[in-house]
Amino acid sequence: MVIFLKFLHFAALALALGGGVANIVLGRQLATAEGAAKPVVTAAQRTLARVSALSLLVLWVTGIGLVYAYYGGWSGFGTAFWGKIAVAAILTVNMGVAQHLMSHARKSGTPPPKAVRAMGLAGPVLLLVIVALATMAFSY
Ligand code: HEM
Repeated sequence: MVIFLKFLHFAALALALGGGVANIVLGRQLATAEGAAKPVVTAAQRTLARVSALSLLVLWVTGIGLVYAYYGGWSGFGTAFWGKIAVAAILTVNMGVAQHLMSHARKSGTPPPKAVRAMGLAGPVLLLVIVALATMAFSY
């Protein structure tokens, strides 16, 4: 059971990061896409952003599960672990705001604000920072 939690933690990480990188690649394609291709690319981007956001939710659920399963609670963790949690919280706000802006733009039929692009770029960078902090936190 605990090993399954850990597997889900890693699988969600792979999906979140893969979705984020694919979205950056599609964003570059969008810049040169013409006509009918544009809505196809943006729809794919929206789906990928949702996959990454759901994966982040799975990371929180499985991460909290791992804290209790392996460590019996929240005491005894060092700075790297708390740094990881802090950056994960920043990433969660980043993704939440991006999701909100995208759904607002979709409903109002306008293109998403430029800030969404920056948020999309920040996602994979923050995820890699979290992986680095996780590696430090759990290397003894
Ligand atoms: C949000 C993005 C997250 C990413 C990218 C991430 C990534 C990782 C990685 C790469 C590891 C393996 C570290 C290693 O064994 O060297 C790990 C382990 C772990 N993560 Fe996360 N994590 C995330 C969120 C969380 C959250 C929110 C929590 C807790 C609330 C959490 C709790 C844990 C725990 C307890 C382990 C250690 C499991 C063990 O001892 O083997 N993670 N995480």
